[in-house]
Amino acid sequence: MWRCGIQVEGSYYPVNDITLTVRDVSKIFNRRIIFENVAFSLSAGESLAITGKNGSGKSTLVKIVCGVLSPTSGTIAYVVNGKILDVEQVKDKIGLVSPYLQLYDEFTGLENLEILSKIRANSVPIGERAGEVLRLVGLWERKNDFLRTYSSGMKQRLKYAFALLHCPPVLILDEPTSNLDAEGIDVVKKIVQEQQKTAILIVATNDKIEADWCQRQMHLGI
Ligand SMILES: Nc1ncnc2c1ncn2[C@@H]1O[C@H](COP(=O)(O)OP(=O)(O)O)[C@@H](O)[C@H]1O
Ligand SMILES: [Mg+2]
Repeated sequence: MWRCGIQVEGSYYPVNDITLTVRDVSKIFNRRIIFENVAFSLSAGESLAITGKNGSGKSTLVKIVCGVLSPTSGTIAYVVNGKILDVEQVKDKIGLVSPYLQLYDEFTGLENLEILSKIRANSVPIGERAGEVLRLVGLWERKNDFLRTYSSGMKQRLKYAFALLHCPPVLILDEPTSNLDAEGIDVVKKIVQEQQKTAILIVATNDKIEADWCQRQMHLGI
């Protein structure tokens, strides 16, 4: 299920030698300090839960770590096999599940995977891997239905399919089980367990049970 045979730039995922280092990251919105001097480092096989109440900055930190939002100060670095990645290369290494990820109602589930993977950095032909991830999240039978006919839980499942499509060495989950039923939550738990074996996992959540999936926890706010 997790064999990733996609060839990208001459290397095969998953990348084992990867490190993410977040140094003294602060974010200020409209003169309001959201968080200050956040620092952590994660290597393949390590996981971190980012906890904190609503508005504490979890999603903001996730966006900064993914490179879609700039920090006010501080740095984020991804190092693979001793080389620091540039912004485009970073996109290729991250799988993100987030309430802020945009899906397209006027296209089918499968078409959404195709469109989104073209937007994501070096567009990789999605091929057989699309079938694998759609089966994994239980959407194979519905892959040709328009997104507007999907329930919110099905859309959340599709976000997982997209996040895992390129076998990312870094998986980042913001509100991982939002809208999912018990079966969907079981799928996520399996994904989380697999990811932690060889890759980096970050979970941003309010939920203690979800935070406990991770080896370490970091709390934002008071
Ligand atoms: N683009 C923005 N402009 C101004 N304030 C923002 C913006 N995005 C988030 N915030 C504020 O930053 C704080 C943290 O938000 P967020 O990261 O979404 O928190 P969480 O995910 O922990 O609920 C909130 O007070 C929110 O209103
Ligand atoms: Mg949030």
